[in-house]
Amino acid sequence: MGRLDGKVAIITGGSRGMGASHVRRFISEGAKVVFTDILVNEGQALAAELGENARFMKQDVSSASDWEKVVVEAEAAFGPVSILVNNAGIMGPIKGLTETTEEEYQKVVDVNQLSVFLGMKAVLPSMRKTENGSIVNISSLGGIIGFKNQAPYIASKFAVRGLSKAAALEFSEYGIRVNSVHPGSIDTPLTRSAGAKELHAAEVGNSIPLGRSAQPEEISSIVLYLASDESSYSTGAEFIVDGGLSVQ
Ligand SMILES: NC(=O)c1ccc[n+]([C@@H]2O[C@H](COP(=O)([O-])OP(=O)(O)OC[C@H]3O[C@@H](n4cnc5c(N)ncnc54)[C@H](O)[C@@H]3O)[C@@H](O)[C@H]2O)c1
Repeated sequence: MGRLDGKVAIITGGSRGMGASHVRRFISEGAKVVFTDILVNEGQALAAELGENARFMKQDVSSASDWEKVVVEAEAAFGPVSILVNNAGIMGPIKGLTETTEEEYQKVVDVNQLSVFLGMKAVLPSMRKTENGSIVNISSLGGIIGFKNQAPYIASKFAVRGLSKAAALEFSEYGIRVNSVHPGSIDTPLTRSAGAKELHAAEVGNSIPLGRSAQPEEISSIVLYLASDESSYSTGAEFIVDGGLSVQ
């Protein structure tokens, strides 16, 4: 018996990195999953590998009309949506605040922050039919504490944390829980990209108490817990998964 048997999930940014890991884990625990991304080839390949319980859709998470389509298709394919994982995100420019342009700032806000607002809004009518929905918003350790040279990212991830609390209060009357997850340093294409690696070394360096970065699967474990009924009394809460980095 799977921990997500009978659940229908939407996971954004599922073509690679942590999102792909969440998709794999959810399928292995019995969920039916619609996952979305702007990376079409990777998404289609993953869906083909995972079989009939996984469906890929191209979606820009900052587009309200794309959100409408995704929810309609997910419900038509599998039934009312009981889980939403807002995972898609970008780092944005790695440079000082005063060198960051308005366009660069807005792009990060659109993909990391506006997307979470649009996703929760779009999914609510479908999720209300299930009476025990769970929304998991992926923020960051950068939504708990600040880091230099990534102001738009930090601002957007603090906003995801706040949005999660606002929605948790509003959606509780429908039996829908909303929590935020705050990963520290996770080994994915995002952190391996040029610039991010150097920033990571400078800001985090060797200071992680557990002495290493995490693998995406270690974040999938907490996302699975929050998505499942096992976390039935958690809402509006922050789940930090950072190897102890923020404790110091
Ligand atoms: N890797 C880390 O150390 C780390 C730490 C804290 C938080 N996070 C957050 O975790 C989430 C996943 O990050 P990851 O490390 O797996 O990165 P990743 O780059 O490997 O994956 C992110 C996915 O989001 C997709 N995406 C980007 N823009 C999109 C858009 N407009 N519409 C739809 N999809 C879009 C990308 O194509 C990609 O597949 C992000 O929200 C990120 O900010 C990552």
